[in-house]
Amino acid sequence: MEKAKWWQDAAVYQIYPRSFYDSNGDGIGDIKGITEKLDYIASLGVDVIWSSPFFVSPWADGGYDIADYRNISPDFGTMEDFEEMIAGIHERGMKFMMDFVGNHTSDEHPWFQAALKDKESPYHDYYIFRKGRDGREPSNWASIFGGSAWEYVPELDEYYLHLFAKKQPDLNWENPKVVSEVLDILDFWADKGVDGYRLDAINYLYKEPDFPDVEPMSGSPYGFATEHYANKPKVHEHFRTLHDKVMAPRGLTTVAEVAYLDEETARGYADPARGELDALYPFDLLNVDQEGYDKFSPLPLDLPKLKKALSHWQNVMHDHGWLALFIGNHDQPRALSRFGDEDQYPVRSAKLLANAMYFLQGTPYIYQGDELGMTVPHYTELSQFRDVEAINALKEGLARGESKEHWLKLLDKRSRDGGRAPFSWDTSDHAGFTTGRPWMDVCANYKDINAELEEHDADSVLNFYRRLLKVRKGRSSVLYGRTEFLEIEDPKLLIYERIAEDEILISVNNFSRDELSFRLPDKFQGAELLISNCRKPDIRDGVARLRPWEAFTLIKTN
Ligand code: GLC
Ligand code: CA
Repeated sequence: MEKAKWWQDAAVYQIYPRSFYDSNGDGIGDIKGITEKLDYIASLGVDVIWSSPFFVSPWADGGYDIADYRNISPDFGTMEDFEEMIAGIHERGMKFMMDFVGNHTSDEHPWFQAALKDKESPYHDYYIFRKGRDGREPSNWASIFGGSAWEYVPELDEYYLHLFAKKQPDLNWENPKVVSEVLDILDFWADKGVDGYRLDAINYLYKEPDFPDVEPMSGSPYGFATEHYANKPKVHEHFRTLHDKVMAPRGLTTVAEVAYLDEETARGYADPARGELDALYPFDLLNVDQEGYDKFSPLPLDLPKLKKALSHWQNVMHDHGWLALFIGNHDQPRALSRFGDEDQYPVRSAKLLANAMYFLQGTPYIYQGDELGMTVPHYTELSQFRDVEAINALKEGLARGESKEHWLKLLDKRSRDGGRAPFSWDTSDHAGFTTGRPWMDVCANYKDINAELEEHDADSVLNFYRRLLKVRKGRSSVLYGRTEFLEIEDPKLLIYERIAEDEILISVNNFSRDELSFRLPDKFQGAELLISNCRKPDIRDGVARLRPWEAFTLIKTN
């Protein structure tokens, strides 16, 4: 078997910097704050830090709307702060992955400002402008954040395309100048020492230029047009350019946020022989508790659906590429609130989620605070929400006559803000996140769930994560094994085997408050316990009697 690449046997810690740690009391997490907490991060046993963007941005989409790719936003600090942070990361033997938002810029970016002023400006062709059709938008494509994907500019009598918010015009990757600007930016940060890139929304780079109308969604003139802009064949070419011109010569690793992906395209992106991307982060993997792609139509967790999605991705990528494993990120409500049992078994179920996900094949991506078992903040006022997606959806809902109470519940459960509340550091005011007024309210339960308390508790979620990352490292079954799910239709059990030549592993997880039993396959007789969220599994005569939300992993060397 080929030796693992460094990023395959690594674990990644994702930081959402505005909510991580505020070093100067202005209420906003910052880069110095990250630097001050590097020992904490290193103590988890992670190898890589990925931070969401901290560049100059009007913050219309949580920093994913960039107005200057080469400068740090003053909210987050200075270039010196960045250099100090990256040096501190490297001193501790860790690496740094930068978030690169290449599908769109902010509308306040100088390129877009120049494009708006003059059709003849070379910057006009950096973006996607079209004439209207019969006095309306060039097509009825919906924006991912609601409403039309086109915005009219009266001065030009043209519309520009924005797949995301109005303040995020899409770049025109068919213009070679745009590609060369992007390559320069990637080189700029590589010169500053970044070790890799997380490529944001990167499978949307090519849009079908004739912009055909699509089937409208119910109650709306606009429709999902992903078939016309997601994963088009031309995207492969762009990936190869990035790989050949920057990533490969400079030895940088990549992980690409991708959605709406079929098997063949996924393998095409991530097959090492093709030289496109190192790893895929299938964004829509967790859409298992909602109706289709509509996150504001929640459904209870469908465990068989989750297992099938996981099993599908494990099979697609095994021997064909590499996968990022995650239970949460800055675009998701907290995993514990969503998939676990926050009310009765918060600690046990938070550990179970890690056990269920992180023995699969791939690189664990741990989102800040999930290692503490943080929950959604449970805001009590609509005014506490900050995210553009939440605010747009709320407006649309209220316009349809739905009640504020309904939307408070819905946003609590489903909004991206659910994962963006400040990190709970300790029991002091504002959870120790800031000495000032936090830009976003902290979680009400920070006195019980915080890093400081968990540091001193051997049975905390935090210490479970540390153990888990330690025991999975370097294991051939974890790294290379084939994945096989058992009992795939069972609504409460999530169980899989990882089968390598010299070693087998089984991860057993009871996603319920019920006591259940499960017969272990004979081949695990005499297996060793790798990790467990209860003191010790109760296994007699090959039958495991599972307590509520119990999870464990066994391993056996052949
Ligand atoms: C990605 C980011 C998300 C952002 C979007 C547009 O999905 O993770 O936060 O809103 O891209 O940049
Ligand atoms: Ca600050």
